[in-house]
Formats: sequence, C-alpha cells, structure tokens
Amino acid sequence: MKKHFSIYSIILILFMTSFSCQSSGDQEKKESSIDARVDSLLALMTLEEKVGQTVMYTSTWELTGPAPANGNNAYRAQQIRNGRVGGMLNVIGAKGTRSAQQLAVENSRLGIPLIFGYDVIHGYKTMFPIPLGQAASWNAEVARIGSEISAIEAASSGLHWTFAPMVDICRDGRFGRIMESAGEDPFLTSVMAKAWVNGYQGDDLSDQYSIAACAKHFAGYGFVEAGRDYNTVDISPNTLYNTVLPPFKAASDAGVATFMNAFNDLNGVPATGNAHIQRDILKGEWGFEGFVVSDWGSIGELLNHGFAEDSAHAAQLAMRAGSDMDMESEVYEYHLQKAIEEGKINEKLLDDAVRRILKVKFQLGLFDDPYKYCNEVLEKKNLLTVENLEASRDAARKSTVLLKNEKNLLPLSKDVNSIAVIGELAGSKDVPLGNWRAQANKNSAVSLYEGIKNALGDRTSVEFAAGYQLIEGNRTFFDTLNFAEDDGSGFKEAIRIAKRSEVVIMAIGEDCFQSGEGRSQADITLKGRQLELLEKIAQVNSNIIVVLMNGRPLAIPEVHQIAPAILESWHAGSEAGNAIADVIFGEYNPSGKLPVSFPYVTGQEPLHYDRKSTGRMVPENDQYDMVFWSHYEDAPNEALYPFGFGLSYTSFEFNNLEVIASENPGKITVSVGLKNTGDLEGTETIQVYIRDIAASITQPIKKLVDFKQIRLLSGQEDRISFTLDSSDFGFYNPQYQYIVEDGKFEIMVGNHSNNLISQTVEVKF
Ligand code: NOJ
Repeated sequence: MKKHFSIYSIILILFMTSFSCQSSGDQEKKESSIDARVDSLLALMTLEEKVGQTVMYTSTWELTGPAPANGNNAYRAQQIRNGRVGGMLNVIGAKGTRSAQQLAVENSRLGIPLIFGYDVIHGYKTMFPIPLGQAASWNAEVARIGSEISAIEAASSGLHWTFAPMVDICRDGRFGRIMESAGEDPFLTSVMAKAWVNGYQGDDLSDQYSIAACAKHFAGYGFVEAGRDYNTVDISPNTLYNTVLPPFKAASDAGVATFMNAFNDLNGVPATGNAHIQRDILKGEWGFEGFVVSDWGSIGELLNHGFAEDSAHAAQLAMRAGSDMDMESEVYEYHLQKAIEEGKINEKLLDDAVRRILKVKFQLGLFDDPYKYCNEVLEKKNLLTVENLEASRDAARKSTVLLKNEKNLLPLSKDVNSIAVIGELAGSKDVPLGNWRAQANKNSAVSLYEGIKNALGDRTSVEFAAGYQLIEGNRTFFDTLNFAEDDGSGFKEAIRIAKRSEVVIMAIGEDCFQSGEGRSQADITLKGRQLELLEKIAQVNSNIIVVLMNGRPLAIPEVHQIAPAILESWHAGSEAGNAIADVIFGEYNPSGKLPVSFPYVTGQEPLHYDRKSTGRMVPENDQYDMVFWSHYEDAPNEALYPFGFGLSYTSFEFNNLEVIASENPGKITVSVGLKNTGDLEGTETIQVYIRDIAASITQPIKKLVDFKQIRLLSGQEDRISFTLDSSDFGFYNPQYQYIVEDGKFEIMVGNHSNNLISQTVEVKF
C-alpha cells in the first residue's frame, strides 16, 4: 500500500462516524463531527496542498467557457496526483469520474477526493422545462421534484455538485440568461430558489442521490447594462439589497452548500473581488458556511475589468474578497502560495477557504467513500426512466401559460377531423430540450407534431409542414448562432395544408440556442419569416392555435392580433410535445402564470411590474393627450402580457376582500372569496401585492408578497386567507438594515399584477 494511504486511513479511523440524520440533535452531532474532521485534516496539510483545494479544472471533454491556456491533460493529471487540485467540472459519467477520482485519491499524499461539478440546470438526461418555464408554474413542487430527479440522475453519473440554481433577478428580455432564471420578481424567485435547493440537496447531502447546489451568480448579473451578457452592472444599493439579494438570502437560508460569484462589475467593484457582498453580507450577516466558487475565469478577468494590475494581484483581491475556489483562471494555482509566503495574504484566509471546501466534501460523504457516486449500475438504472419522463411531462404541462383563448377555441375536441401542424419548431425534437441541456441526447424530445399525433386516434388527419426556416444546421452551445436563410420555399405547402384543415396548430418562437449564456439579443421580436408565414396562414384559416417556444419574453403584439389562441410552452423539455398536447386537448387545464412581463416592443425593456411611481405618473382623468408624464410617445408603458398573467379553460371571480390588522401588532390577515364561475375544474393562483404609500425610501407601486394555488370544481367557492407580518412590509436601507415603517399600505389581491382588487389599511408595527 502506498504511503498516502496510511495517512488517509489514520484520518478515516480517527474521524469516521456514521450518522443517520433523524433529529436536529443528530444533525448537530454530525456537523460538529465534520468540523472536527476538517480541522484534523487541515492540520496535516502543507501550504501547497491547501492552495490545491482552491483550484478547479475543467476536463477537456466538454467546455462551457473559453478553453484553458494550459489545458495540457498530462500536466493537469499530474497536478491532481500531486494533490494540487480540489475540484473539476465537466467530467462526465460514472466511469469518467471514477478514473479522475482515482488520480486524486490513490496517488496524492492525503488522498483528498475531488469534487465534481457540472451545469445540471434543468435536467441531466431527462430534461425538464427551462427554469423560466418552471417558474411559470408558480408551483414550488414542480421545481423541487424536477431538481430532485435531476440530482438522482446526476449523482448516478458520478456528479456531486450542480451549478444551479441561478437565482439572478432578470427583467430584461434581451439578456439571454433570462431563460435560466425565475424571472423578474424577488418573491417568486425566492420561493423557487428554496425549492430548487431542497430538491437538489434533500435533507442530507451525504445521501447517495443528493448533490450540492450552487446559488449563482452572486451578484447582480441579471442587471447587465442593456441586457448584454458580461456587461457592467451599475445599480443602487436599494436595488441591490431589495431586489437582487433576497433570492440569494433565501437560498442561503435553505442551506445551499455553495455560491458562485459573477462575471460582472458591480457598482465599480467586480463581483469576484467584492468583499462587501461576499464577506460582509454572505459570510457575515447571513452566516453562510459553504464555499464560494468563482465563475469561469472570473478571477483572471479582474485584470480585464481594470481592477487588478496583474494575475498575482488578482489572486490577492479575490481571496481577500472571499472567493474560495478558482474555476479555470489558474490564478490561485500560480499565485496564491507566493502571495502567502510574501505575507501579502494572511494564511488564515486560505485556511478559511479550504475549511469551507473540505466541509462540503465531508458533508457529501466523499471521505467515507470517494467512489460512491461513480456507480455504473445505478447510472444505467436511474437515467431517463419512465417515472422521470412522466414527472417531466407533468412539469411541462404545469409550466404552460394560456395567453389568449378567443371564442374558446381551446381546449380542442379530439373529434376534430383535420389538423395542420405548422412550423419548423413544431417538428423539432431538439429545440424543446432547451439550452443548458447537460447530457440530454440530441433530438430526444417529443416534438409538438409527435405529441399531437400521440394524443389522437386514426380518425383525425394530422399533417405537418415546417413552413418557415429558422434553425441553422450545425448549431451548438459554443458557437455564435446563425439563422438559416429562409427563401420561403416552405410557405406553399404550409398554406396548402392550413387551407384544407379544420384547425391549425402553429409553433413559433426561438431556437433553443437563441437564449442562454452569451445569447443576448438587441431585438426580441420573432426572427426570420415566422410572422410573415403566420399572417399568410391566417388568411386561409382563422382557427389558429399558436404555440410559443422561447427562452425569453418576446415582443409579439402582431401575434396577439392575429391568433385567436396562444399557448406559451417555453422550451418544455423531453416530453414537450405530449405535455403541450395534454393542454391543447384539455387533459390538463392550464394553470401557468408569467414570471416575466412581455413587452409590446423591445424598447420597453427592462420591463417589470414593480416599478416606481415617479413624480410624473399616469395622469388622472385619462389626460393622455398631455405630454409631460413618464411615458413613450410610440408605445404603451404597460406590458402586452403582464407579470402573473395566465388564463384557464374555466373562469374565476374574486370577491369580498377583507384586510384585518390583527391583535398581534404588525400582523395583517388578508382574505378573499374565490369562485370558479366556468364549466370546468381548474386551478387559480391568488396573488397578494402591497404598496407602501409613503416611505423614507420610495417603494414600488406594487410588490408581490405571497401567493397560493387553489383548485376548484366548476361552481365551487372558497375563501382564501393569507397572514402577512412585518417582514412583508419593510425594506433594506442603504446601510443594509431591514426597517419597517408604520403607515398606510395598499393591499391588493387578484390573479395577475394588472387585475387586482385592493384596500388601504393603516399599519403599526
Ligand atoms: C459560466 C457560467 O456563467 C456559469 O453559470 C457556469 O456554471 C460556468 N460557466 C460553468 O460552466
């Protein structure tokens, strides 16, 4: 047996304790045992080995960023054997992770296992709707179940750690990564953040099937100027503290194991070098005990920002700021040791970083069995199972939003004689998989065309024509997207089948690689000749059901004018076609609500419902012909489809709003009657907003503070109650103190941000 094994065994014998976590007492014992094991191991480590734990390499099998400068495999393998590497990303599969793990565990002096991370964003093999779609379910269980299954698949394939959830508030549709977010609202995003973290991590990180989650990108990434990826973020402390940080705090409170910082400059200090947010707030105020990984190369990019003079300086700035692990910059690898030896960095900071990294490795159980995740039998058994696909289908139907339904064209009877399914996106088995698709098999989704056929018997004729051309042949995650040249040659056939069919189902929207990292757009209208074809189809058949497939809000007022029925399906995942067909034929009554506002025109972006009133608000008495108020002369202020909006096949009525300030000071009980006034059973989402009418820092005209989903039979009524407390009424001041001010508040309840009944109350806290 090699020398390192004896030290490794001593560590194990001294500190290995198995707990099954049944009570909080057990949990505390387990935590303190882990802390003791971490301290003992740290005491054995040399400076080089400690620096090694802060280094993360990508494998060269799959890159998710610019290729590393020194990506020499032989050199890198030797670094792992020497104990100079703490983690890797993009190492795939049970076999691959096992062989990489062997390099570390069986060769390095202390045998410290590597941690393997990967972007499991909305599925590993079985794809769920993109995160923006999941958020449209307004259903935390959809998020939790999806990430739990993703964790099972990823853990069965050797992974310990996902770089998800992304909890950046995104309110600019031009920003490509809006698809990876839960949208524009801090409260909804916080609910989703917690559910995603719980799903990935379960109750116990050491469970065979749980993986560490990572709240990213800390912080402000969703606010890049003009929606252009990697751009500067310059926002007020008010926006930072009250809009950007709350979902991160929710993730931290939910026990997320890691954070990832961000590429962007944040108010003059790049996030990766930002001690205020990483040390003062995250690790200080919030008591976060996990570790912070940099984003890909973001420590090295401190030079590009003009913040660090050279790489050595970047290493010092990032370590001082609390960035614990360096993803692919090679800055810690080459400069941290020297900085400590020269006294430029206090070794205690490095010890803290290493302690945090080791702690997560212990929590994952990697010291008890570094190979427990590398199990090829489980990998075969647990991926793409019937149950996983069924869960994906359920998530997709719950994420679908009905945006328009004139003359009750939907749900469609299965007795229909003929349907024309039109659109390249409707035939695609790849687009619904979305961007950030981990190990999804190419072309493995159920297309919309297939879903429609699966739902119907032989008596209905279903014809397909791609019509327009949008997708360019060789598109991948890595390349700039080119759109196909459309010569209109597909129009004729599409118009022909539309003309002779009873109903047209037409898919339009975006290719999946139009959104995601590096995929910002200056124009968020439909690309190519999709709209032109839709107009032509409408001339021959007015029964058009438009199915949108997209990763961002789109500016589509013309589509709204033309199509009597519109369904938003996002990029819905592996079972997309079946799920959309479930909604079209009424097997599922749609319940999704928009997590982002859809504008009329791109120029309205960033657009969000929780805006400030301004000193020049909408004039009373409809004096719209007067010019001096905050508006556009060529577009509305409002959204085409507002935040929280989504129809059902049934209808609901709200009545008798009651707002009672209870005995308990500062507690407000809100209740409202809800009646299903339509003919079908259905689910409604009751949303509660508040407005602080006058405050020492001006507040939004409305702010979501709670919501509930209720299922009612046709004709059924119920009364729904909410209890709000002081934490719903306050805000952070510029010193990051949470304050609550007495005064008048407007309480608003309804089924979207623009359809609310309200009452004003005086509250004393
Ligand atoms: C860069 C992205 O910003 C981040 O979200 C991702 O996790 C890393 N690359 C790793 O792929």
